[in-house]
Amino acid sequence: MKVLVANGPNLNMTGTREPETYGSDTLAVINSQLKSRFPDVAFEFFQTNGEGDMIDKIHGVDKEGFVGVVLNAGALTHYSYSLRDAIASVRTPVVEVHMSNVFAREEFRRTSVISAVCKGTITGFGKLSYFAAVFALSENAGK
Ligand code: DQA
Repeated sequence: MKVLVANGPNLNMTGTREPETYGSDTLAVINSQLKSRFPDVAFEFFQTNGEGDMIDKIHGVDKEGFVGVVLNAGALTHYSYSLRDAIASVRTPVVEVHMSNVFAREEFRRTSVISAVCKGTITGFGKLSYFAAVFALSENAGK
């Protein structure tokens, strides 16, 4: 079972960036904990600070055979209609994740332009948001 974990702009700074909001684990640590927790999942990890690179990655997911995508789109979540259209253009389910509770923060973070084309959204559980999304996808695989 293949799962893509895709992180957008600034998520490469996780661990040092606003640790009170995003925790002190780096993305590499979180990714390795995911592998340990879900040994039967074949993970691919992807991070980009570029909107176009993220769109290109999403375009390829159907032919790569992922059961799903765990997507933390960072701030692209709040304004990227082109990312939304990319998600809508593929059949592979995409789970929107956020470490922080975006509804408890600034007004602009309460809008997601991608939620409506995602399978579901998990927000506010810190790094466990990723774990919850992988769990949901793995339970759903093949159904
Ligand atoms: C985030 C929330 C976004 O609003 C923000 O731009 C991020 C991270 C989160 O994981 O909580 O970069 O997606």
